[in-house]
Amino acid sequence: MTALAAISVFSLNAVAASAGPQAEVLHWWTSGGEAKSVAVLQQQFAGRGGAWTDMPVAGGGGDAAMTALRARVLAGNAPTAVQLKGPAIQEWYEEGVLADISSVAEAQHWADVLPASIAGHMKCDGHWCAAPVNVHRVDWIWANADILKQNGIEMPTTWDEFNAAADKLKAAGITPLAHGGQSWQDATVFETVVLGLGGAEFYKKALVDLDHDALTSDTMKAVFDQMRKLRGDVDANFSGRDWNLATAMVMNGEAAFQIMGDWAKGEFLAAGKEPGKDFLCRSTPGNGYLYNVDSFAMFNVEGDDKKAGQDLLAELIVGPSFQETFNLNKGSIPVRSDVSLDKFDSCAKTSAADMASSSADGSLLPSYAHGMALRGAQAGAITDVVTAHFNSDMSSDEAVQMLADAVANSM
Ligand code: GAL
Repeated sequence: MTALAAISVFSLNAVAASAGPQAEVLHWWTSGGEAKSVAVLQQQFAGRGGAWTDMPVAGGGGDAAMTALRARVLAGNAPTAVQLKGPAIQEWYEEGVLADISSVAEAQHWADVLPASIAGHMKCDGHWCAAPVNVHRVDWIWANADILKQNGIEMPTTWDEFNAAADKLKAAGITPLAHGGQSWQDATVFETVVLGLGGAEFYKKALVDLDHDALTSDTMKAVFDQMRKLRGDVDANFSGRDWNLATAMVMNGEAAFQIMGDWAKGEFLAAGKEPGKDFLCRSTPGNGYLYNVDSFAMFNVEGDDKKAGQDLLAELIVGPSFQETFNLNKGSIPVRSDVSLDKFDSCAKTSAADMASSSADGSLLPSYAHGMALRGAQAGAITDVVTAHFNSDMSSDEAVQMLADAVANSM
């Protein structure tokens, strides 16, 4: 009797569990800081009775994750929720595979708490199709505080100052720039140089509007000259290195600087490092702000348990408690305008203030390197040229010609 009772209680529980919210979540958050951040969502989801199936696909910037996604959708077996950003959301929507999450968005009043520019990325034909997680800033330089102090170097405010600091460090036998030679990392550095040397209007013309004159201009040649200079600032083993290993080089005193989005701050923080003391942050030289908003899109799936999982995930992601805890770990700032920054560090506060001022003066710009500005084919065409230039002795004249051709062929 007792055994039977136990069995029936067990099976009741099993039924109850399987009827609860379910989610298989595809993402690329596998580094120390990233894993700590996504764990916040897993915990909150489990705390509300959800069953989470993790589908992490390692690879910074998400290229490998996007390949895995395509294979799953082609096989007719889309994950429930997917880390997806910018124009890629619209591309998947056009394939007819995204779920409508408007009922959650409306019940939670997303329109009142999200900046209009960000809400625009989350909507497909007027309805909500993705839930935004954060605002990452891409145009940052991170530095090892001790190295700069020991070498009498201030955080650079112009590219000339950066170059002078790099030369001084090299003469002292120190690697100036920690870099991982992966194409998305090359693109990340490249876009900060485009913004820095060209300014906001040039950035927009070149990397958002794909204007032929901007792509072949003397300014763009100067950008490639600067990329060539930076190529000389990296160590011999940079090829293929993951971004978080480059961050670790700065942490461990093996290199002075890294140019990377503020997910790098998530790594410093996860390792117990303090901003202003162990490491320094400053926006890359120039005026403007390159934003990179992470978000999750829900795919069309069968089953009430999965649909409940999508609704719960969407609700949690934009909820104020998740927005605070997640972003404290991730290095980004909350996407909601009503979350207090009291617990955030000085880099995050700078990010929020600069985002507001750049939004006011028109220099708040989408990151092309992180899939916010262009469709995949165009972004990929640019990145191929940036990487080909960085890893060869191609001249800046050849590079701008190749850039214009690659963009034209990708249209
Ligand atoms: C970005 C993403 C960030 C961070 C980074 C490195 O594209 O938006 O959240 O994960 O890649 O993986």
